[in-house]
Parts: sequence; structure tokens; C-alpha cells
Amino acid sequence: MTILGVETSCDETALALIEIREKDGCLECRVIDSLVHSQADLHSAYGGVYPSLAKREHGRNLIPLLHRLLSTSAVESRLEITESDFDVRKRQLLAEIEKTNPDLLQTFEAADFLRKVPAIDHIAVTEGPGLEPTLWVGINFAKILGELWKIPVVPVNHMEGHIVGSLLDRDAPQGAWQVLKNPVMPALAFLISGGHTELVEISASGKNAGNRYKILGETRDDAVGEAFDKVARLLGLPYPGGPHVSKLAFMAREKDMSSNVKLPRPMISSADLNFSFSGLKTAVLYAVQKATAENRFDENFRMALAREFEDAVAETLEAKLEKAIEERGAGSLIVGGGVSANRVLRERFQKIAAKHGLEIYLPSQHISGDNALMIALAGALEIKAKSGPQNSGPLKAHGTKRLDGR
Ligand code: KG4
Ligand code: ZN
Repeated sequence: MTILGVETSCDETALALIEIREKDGCLECRVIDSLVHSQADLHSAYGGVYPSLAKREHGRNLIPLLHRLLSTSAVESRLEITESDFDVRKRQLLAEIEKTNPDLLQTFEAADFLRKVPAIDHIAVTEGPGLEPTLWVGINFAKILGELWKIPVVPVNHMEGHIVGSLLDRDAPQGAWQVLKNPVMPALAFLISGGHTELVEISASGKNAGNRYKILGETRDDAVGEAFDKVARLLGLPYPGGPHVSKLAFMAREKDMSSNVKLPRPMISSADLNFSFSGLKTAVLYAVQKATAENRFDENFRMALAREFEDAVAETLEAKLEKAIEERGAGSLIVGGGVSANRVLRERFQKIAAKHGLEIYLPSQHISGDNALMIALAGALEIKAKSGPQNSGPLKAHGTKRLDGR
């Protein structure tokens, strides 16, 4: 089974092609190709994602990216649609996006390569959570391709993508078959990204996502990645800020520098498993303002403060993670989302997992951020769980879609 994954939930336009097979009761996956076009440079000027700009860029980028994917991945074509048939179908389908997605429409109109129907069995597309205007671009793209090529389209939850992406083999060579890992259930998933901070319990049973996932705790305000991005901005670093803050913090550790400023560890001792990061960001703001007024806002100050911020985040996440493990007795730990690229956090989570005797599943660095490989993979699991795609109603963007379906 070959699946095309489509991801446009935020500022990464991503497409991937994977092959799936079942062997000895296990699911095996072969990544044919996975392409990610990041818009980070464009949004950097705004210090965060500018939704209408992101929407326009997805519209412009999807078709050229698909062309690249199909021409380099050597996927055979199943048949060729005749020119007249293609024109009729295309006109009908594109009429639907004339007003809503002019950028996507323009690129579709010029895409004659779409007449060759590739040997793809399903299209998996992110339906949410994410920015609704950008989600719609991916959904419209998938819908039009699906109808043009007569291929079923499966909607996928972006956070489920982050979970399954971490189950791939980190050392598998590109293009090789690999077994999708099977974590001991119930598993605990720690999802840390630009939009989410969630502790999720996954049970093996449960045909639909609402039964399979239980959200044990989540952020009350900013997500952890969002806090990294906002702090980066305060420290004069580019968007997305996580890697830059982390680099400064690393330099401070190398030089054995620590900050005079002591930041709060928000909600670290609260009885629940929730998080809050907006107060931490505000504390950084005050520290920066004070240092600026006192003429101390120099490189050393920034490095030391970045370290203190990363430590505050790490200690908070660590405390809630341990609490969740102790209270719920998980069988394994899965970490996913863009922030899971952070080295300090990865090391700390690995130590916690070892302490509690849990197997830990971390994503490869190159798929810790948003990508379509994880979406294709989550689509494959969805198809398998329902033994074939089922009509789940009209495809639609769900900006605030939750894993537990609430
Ligand atoms: O999962 P993701 O790519 O997008 C969302 O679904 O939100 O996560 C992006 C977030 C950004 O906030 C980015 O700053 C953060 O992940 N991030 C990091 C690191 N690399 C990316 N945060 C901390 N340390 C990193 N090394
Ligand atoms: Zn994400």
C-alpha cells in the first residue's frame, strides 16, 4: 500500500510518500521520500507565523513540491487521463476553490503532470489541530487530487502524527523497510510543540481516537514551543526560536555561566498534570527590561538567561512527566513534537525513562518538527484500524481538534 501524506497545519508545507506492508503481524514502513518546505524565513520578520502569508505560501508550494516528489521518487503511473477528460474534471474541481484558494488554483491550472495517475492507494491529510486557513489549503489540495485520481482521502490528527513519527527506527537507512515499533501499553505520550504541551495516555484498545487517547494534562496558556519562540524574540533571536535559545543555553553551560535571575517553575508543585508557560515568558520580559535599563543586556546576560529559561522549562516538564508515570504506571514513554529536538530535554527524559524502567521512543531529529511522513504513517494506522478507509463525512479543517475527540 502506497500513501501520500500532506501536511499544512502551520508554516511547513510538507509531502511524503511511504509504502506500508504487514509482515508476521507487524506493520512495516518504507519511506520513499519526504519533503518539507519551511516558510520560517518569511515569518521571521513577524516573530511568529502570519496565517494569511502561510496560507498563500502553501497554495504556491504544494503543486511544485508534488512535482518534485513524483519526479524523484520513481513511483510508477497507473494510467494517463486523456487531455479532454482531464480538462473537464479539472475545471469542475477547481471551480470550488476559485474564491478561497486562488494561489493553489493557479498552480493546479498549470500542472499537466497530474494527468499521469501515480500508483498511490491513499492520500492522508492533516485535518487539525492547526491554523484553519492553512489546514484548508492542504485539505483542498488532497480533495482535488483524490477526486482527480479517484484515490480515497483519509483525514489525520496532527498530534497523532507526532506520536507515530516517534515509533520509526531512528537509524534506518533512507529507503529501507523498517518495522514500526510496538510500545508496551498503556503508553504515555509527551507531546511538546509550538501549539501543544500535552501528557496523553494511550491504551491499546479503543477503535476510535476518543477511546484510545486520554489527555492527562495540558497547558493552560502558552505551549512550551511558543514560550521558546517568545523568549527568543525577547533575547533578539530569530523565529523559530527554540533551537536558538537552546544554542545560547548550551554556550552558557560550556562556559559554566549561570544567571543571577531566578525564573519561576510554573505549576511545578500543583496537584494536577497541567502546565503554564505564559508567566515564565513574562518573567523573562521583566528581567530583560531591567537589564536593559541598567545597561546589562549583553551577550553574557542573554546566554545565562537562556540557560536559566531552558532549565526552568526542563524542570517543569520533568516534574509533571514523573508525576504522570508514578500516578498512571505507564508501560512506555513516547515523546513527540518540535520541542523534542531539544537536546537537554531528550537527555532528561531518557534518564527518567531509565529510572522507571520504561522504553522511550524519541523521534529522529529530522522528523521531530512538522513533516508529512508522520501524517502518511498515521493515515496508514487509521486505514488498518478501520480495515480500509471509511467515509467519515466531508473533509473539513478542525483547528482545535483534540486527540480525545472532546
Ligand atoms: O511540532 P512543531 O514543528 O510545530 C507545531 O506543531 O507546533 O514544533 C515547532 C516548535 C517551535 O516552537 C520551535 O521553536 C520548537 O518546536 N523547537 C524547539 C527546538 N527545535 C524546535 N524548542 C526547543 N528546543 C529545540 N531544539
Ligand atoms: Zn507539530
